[in-house]
Amino acid sequence: MNNNSVKVGLMGLGTVGTGVVRIIQGHQEDLQKQTGLSLEIKKILVRNMDKERNVSIPSELVTLDPEELVNDPEIDVIVEVIGGIHPTKEYILQALENGKHVVTANKDLMAESGAEILSKAQEKGCDVFYEASVAGGIPILRALVEGFSSDRITKMMGIVNGTTNYILTKMSQEGADYADVLKEAQKLGYAESDPTADVEGHDAARKMAILSTLGFHVDMNLDDVEFQGISNVSSEDINHAKRLGYEMKLLGIAKRDDDLIEVSVQPTLVHNSHPLASVNGVFNAIYVHGEAVGETMFYGPGAGELPTATAVVADLVTVVKNMKLGVNGRGSVAPYKEKLLKGDDQINSKYFLRLVVADKRGVLAQITRILAEHDVSLEHVMQQPYNDGKQAEVIMVTHHASKGNIMDVRNAFEALDSVYEVKSLYRVEGGEQK
Ligand code: NAP
Ligand code: HSE
Repeated sequence: MNNNSVKVGLMGLGTVGTGVVRIIQGHQEDLQKQTGLSLEIKKILVRNMDKERNVSIPSELVTLDPEELVNDPEIDVIVEVIGGIHPTKEYILQALENGKHVVTANKDLMAESGAEILSKAQEKGCDVFYEASVAGGIPILRALVEGFSSDRITKMMGIVNGTTNYILTKMSQEGADYADVLKEAQKLGYAESDPTADVEGHDAARKMAILSTLGFHVDMNLDDVEFQGISNVSSEDINHAKRLGYEMKLLGIAKRDDDLIEVSVQPTLVHNSHPLASVNGVFNAIYVHGEAVGETMFYGPGAGELPTATAVVADLVTVVKNMKLGVNGRGSVAPYKEKLLKGDDQINSKYFLRLVVADKRGVLAQITRILAEHDVSLEHVMQQPYNDGKQAEVIMVTHHASKGNIMDVRNAFEALDSVYEVKSLYRVEGGEQK
């Protein structure tokens, strides 16, 4: 930092990097008024020099050599919007080693190596901020770290992947085809470079690991998060859900009961009366329940060029303010609670089950006997003809039951000759009878 400007090394000029350049260029006057300094992008690291860019930047700023950023003593802050674990982790660690502050949108890296990066930052007195890594433009990490610092969070439920919410919304509202909508989401810049991370739930799991680390003050790893994506969700499931008064959402759930924690991501039926049910398209939302505050909800665009870049540049503003105050690297609190994870018998929820069965006398009785043997009671049950009346379809929503018992029920159903297939099993949230 000289007296007038802060020099930024931007790694990546794709969807988010382009937005960062646009916001720094377009909001320079406001940013300068807030920080007292101008923000100057000194170098931009890319992979392909020949690619046409969607922003106008002097060509001498662009480089293929990461050393020109991480080893340039004039650069104060590295903004990393490349993504992935390698080589970004090495670039970030080297930048920190050289005393540079870091802003990143990289949830893969922060979910997998966040502790190592934050510890290096602390050792070097540097800031690391990663607001854009969860829920794009929604300032949820700041809310957890600052806004809820006086409370004890008991539950966070989030629609934290814009691509899958976009796909499920289009399938539900327009009957659109899964593969077509995925292509659209990729074109709009919502999806990861490898969209399997979105549709198979990895991306949401990483975000839930970050949220639960900050919200519950425990060191949650990606391995602690059970996850399942949306690639097996069928239009039939979505239509049944709608008929029963639910919307299908890829939901991240983090719950703390006493000191026991569960964190998971799965397609979930969310009752229409719950505010998360009406979160559509690329929008994200995180419902947070605190012991003292009660229910709160954060809503906004979860992906895309400018929403994500807003969060990145806001982090940059915080770094610059800290530089002026001389307090960089002092704000982060390491997880201080013991991580105690629930077993399947301690995870409780309602569940939706859909079975294809033989359409003959006594089948429903066998099904209800198995449910009773496993202490599972039904809130709703419906049978209808299936496959032109050659079989029957049984659709059930249970009352609260343990996950362990529901898994045993599924196994017992699968062992029955009269059950041809357990078509679907989903968690259900909201719609509790008062
Ligand atoms: P992207 O469009 O694929 O852009 C990646 C950029 O990084 C490109 O400019 C690419 O260079 C550059 N790059 C890739 N590998 C490189 C390497 N080895 N060395 C140097 N440069 C390299 O990605 P994005 O969508 O902007 O996402 C960036 C990060 O933000 C990811 O961590 C992502 O998870 C996160 N994020 C994205 C969104 C979103 O809505 N897209 C939202 C929140 C968070 P070329 O241009 O030369 O190919
Ligand atoms: N691929 C991510 C999503 C980008 O769809 O939510 C934002 O993290």
